[in-house]
Amino acid sequence: QSDQFKKLVSHCKEYGFIYQSSEVYDGLAAVYDYGPYGVELKNNIKEYWWKAMVQMHENIVGIDAAIFMHPKTWKASGHVDAFNDPLIDNLDSKKRYRADVLIEEHIDKIEAKITKEVTKAAKRFGDSFDEQQYRSTNGRVMGYQEQIDTITKRLAQAMTDGNLEELKNLIVELEIADDTGSRNWTDVRQFNLMFSTQLGNIAGEEGKLYLRPETAQGIFVNFLNVQKTTRQKLPFGIAQIGKAFRNEITARQFIFRMREFEQMEMQFFIPPGSQADWYKYWKEARMKWHLALGTPQSKLRFHDHDNLAHYADAAVDIQFEFPFGFKELEGIHSRTDFDLGSHQELSGKKLQYFDPESKESYVPYVLETSIGCDRMFLATMSNALVEEQVPGQDDPNNTREVLKLHPALAPVKCAVFPLKRNDERLVSKAKEIFNQLKFSFPTQYDDIGSIGKLYRRQDAIGTPYCITVDFESLDDNTVTIRERDSLTQERVPIERVEQIVKERIDM
Ligand code: GAP
Repeated sequence: QSDQFKKLVSHCKEYGFIYQSSEVYDGLAAVYDYGPYGVELKNNIKEYWWKAMVQMHENIVGIDAAIFMHPKTWKASGHVDAFNDPLIDNLDSKKRYRADVLIEEHIDKIEAKITKEVTKAAKRFGDSFDEQQYRSTNGRVMGYQEQIDTITKRLAQAMTDGNLEELKNLIVELEIADDTGSRNWTDVRQFNLMFSTQLGNIAGEEGKLYLRPETAQGIFVNFLNVQKTTRQKLPFGIAQIGKAFRNEITARQFIFRMREFEQMEMQFFIPPGSQADWYKYWKEARMKWHLALGTPQSKLRFHDHDNLAHYADAAVDIQFEFPFGFKELEGIHSRTDFDLGSHQELSGKKLQYFDPESKESYVPYVLETSIGCDRMFLATMSNALVEEQVPGQDDPNNTREVLKLHPALAPVKCAVFPLKRNDERLVSKAKEIFNQLKFSFPTQYDDIGSIGKLYRRQDAIGTPYCITVDFESLDDNTVTIRERDSLTQERVPIERVEQIVKERIDM
């Protein structure tokens, strides 16, 4: 793990964002709990998504379907037969890995070699350095790139074909070792990712239930209920936020890949034939959503799928540059009529839309946008956390850790402090302001520590505004408002504080 990533993980714990699940029992792998600031930030992410999807589109409505579904759901969706990952065991270390992830990590290592070469050259050449040209002319870099291209191509082909032997060949040929350095690999075999449990009153296979591995199916089976009860015409969408469960083999990288996680999914039902246009529309709309939060364009990119899932005729990821490289943050999938068609076939119930204009009935096509809430949380945190020299101060050793969260996402919007905690007049005035502001937005009162420490603590949890009550406040009823990023301080009348903060946090 890079230093930057380690810092992020420990920051999440130290400031009450994320804890390991069941930590007193040494934790449960790939399961995490959200702490007091974590749950606020996560709720704000969900609210921002819900507003953009449901509130801002008159033709998108929400639902909240159950996690348990009829077991036939997962037969129809293809998850029973095809929701597998290629698994490989290491005989020496007795550890289990995902074959494709091992190969991808090998590719990342070659990528890191290129980055190292490029960084070195950039230093050597200074301002005249042309990265593009260097990459296309330097022999060593070109060699690495060629290796990456060949491995990527073979990996994609093997995954598309479900060719487990080829995956093993790659691991052996590339001399990939596991975490312990061992290369004693078994054959690769398929492993189904669904968790199962048992209904109490039905024994055996009949009573077997799955924890949903995606929220989408709750939307598909409710398609007609929603369409009829809300009198929607195509195109229209159904949005949902909820838990999903996957028995992930490779459970590393913190909350990037979890066994219990949350998805924010939207299925957009459209007439067959219009999928290319809607694919383009949702690609752009979703990218804009990310950019509107202040995520720099350079940290986001589209990545076309090398191998398509069993339900899709086109699929693209929005990738984010995590501390461990560009990785999938969100998927946009053109799912055709695969899901509705399969449910119609297996249930024997018509899942069709009657088009009032053409007077025809048909199974709609579906365009899906699907983003992991936890992954969005990780992207948001890694984008926001910076260690910087304190603005306006000359001493380069005077640094601070600050979470530069978009104010709409910040867990606490405003904090109120008395300049001195042993002065009863300052304390009671600060508490009075706090007791008023808390009705408008999440606010904190704090006086445990020097004023400098109080500011640092709010910086570390991303609070955009801090209000300080000082001796002048007692005379003229004004306070200072300090802005988190610029550290500018303004004096304003107390009665205007609420309005000023409200306007700036954009609520
Ligand atoms: N309904 C389509 C679907 O589930 P997916 O690409 O498998 O597609 C969608 O998942 C998103 O869910 C991913 O882009 C990712 O953000 C999130 N996700 C998937 N598996 C995850 C896991 N194990 N832990 C955290 N997030 C995950």
